[in-house]
Amino acid sequence: MKKIAYINEKIDSFNSKIYVPGDKSLSIRWILMASQAIGISTAYNLLKSEDVFSALKTIKKLGINFKINKKSCKIFGKGLNGFNFRNNTIINAGNSGTLARLIFGLLVKSKNQIILKGDKSLSKRDFSRVIRPMRMFGQNIISKNQKLPIKIKGTDYPRPISYDETKGSAQIKSCILLAAIKTPGKTKIKSIPSRDHTEKLFKFLKLPIKIFKKKKVDLISYEGVKNYKGFSYVIPGDISSSSFFIVLTLLAKKSKIIIKNVNVNKSRTGIIDILKIMKANIVLKNKKNYNGELIADIFVKSSSKLRSVNCPLDMNSRSIDEFLLIFLVCAIAKGVSNFNKIGELRNKETDRLKFANKFLNIIGIKTKITKDSFKIYGNPNLKLEKTYKIKNFDKDHRACMLSFIAALTLGGKWIINDIDSINTSFPSFISLLKKLGAKIN
Ligand code: S3P
Repeated sequence: MKKIAYINEKIDSFNSKIYVPGDKSLSIRWILMASQAIGISTAYNLLKSEDVFSALKTIKKLGINFKINKKSCKIFGKGLNGFNFRNNTIINAGNSGTLARLIFGLLVKSKNQIILKGDKSLSKRDFSRVIRPMRMFGQNIISKNQKLPIKIKGTDYPRPISYDETKGSAQIKSCILLAAIKTPGKTKIKSIPSRDHTEKLFKFLKLPIKIFKKKKVDLISYEGVKNYKGFSYVIPGDISSSSFFIVLTLLAKKSKIIIKNVNVNKSRTGIIDILKIMKANIVLKNKKNYNGELIADIFVKSSSKLRSVNCPLDMNSRSIDEFLLIFLVCAIAKGVSNFNKIGELRNKETDRLKFANKFLNIIGIKTKITKDSFKIYGNPNLKLEKTYKIKNFDKDHRACMLSFIAALTLGGKWIINDIDSINTSFPSFISLLKKLGAKIN
């Protein structure tokens, strides 16, 4: 694939209906849960991206077969004790933090040692967040500086744990829940609310999960051990992928879009709520419940009177992957926008706070940045005329796709490097943009 894209003109107005590919979080969770089921599980509309292929290759290395074709993917599970692999088997999670964190949970009882690796960006990321709870379960973990590569070996007698999850991280919560399904006794998690696809999947599978929602925390408990049978699942569209098209439409002139069948689970729709506070024209229609997840069509219109936002703290985890796009909207909104307690953005595929600061400064937007806060001085009259080169972003797929949206809506000439990074989550991104009329070379 080509590595550099050149964009020299804004996108013309468009009026379209699109579908985005399947949700990444749900695709990875389906693969991991299907790998533990007894019998065949089938998924439709599974996302076909590098992170998801890393998950499929991972279960294959652990002894679970799959078959994938254009329409569906089948996984041939062998139950909770079905993994079978040699000592020192190497797993490569590629760029996927979700896969790398969640797989610890499924390895809580592994008899042989796994060596878990990842790409350059994943190897810089923090794993202490899952090492700590997994050691409490009794898992044996050898790591240098809590980073990949990490050696993992399970225990014959995992102990249920009580854990306080204070980062609002769904990866930590889900890692613990996956360990809990193999651990006799009651595992308890007190957690700052975060995306709850794992819990919803457990409920759909009728697994004994209990959730008690308090004002600021969720109390979750799980009583292991219970096997479950293979299951079918249709993966809805990804709200994070949709968000690039939501913001493209808001910032483009006289345009409209309908994004069909998107997962609008409340724990993921912070971006819509924030953009609505900013006076964006977004409406959800045709809401329906599918296997515990809420699905809807998203209607968006160009919005020229956008206002700044003081981002409420409870939006942080609900829009964790969408902040780069939200910051871009703030850049052209009227007024000063404020974001607090967003230090977790520094622990993503790249340091997204640092990247956003650099990015906005390059296009002439004033900002103030601290360790975990960000202030953006919006300029509704922003006009770009120079040449902008985007590089050195640790191949972060979302940083790369953000640059396309800025290039197509703000003007100027853009040279965007490392565009192969997009394959991590959204391989059809560029072709979808071109269908709307974007000129990309
Ligand atoms: C994810 C959780 C989030 C998110 C990531 C996907 C998941 O990470 O940023 O892209 O699927 O559980 P954290 O749990 O670290 O916040």
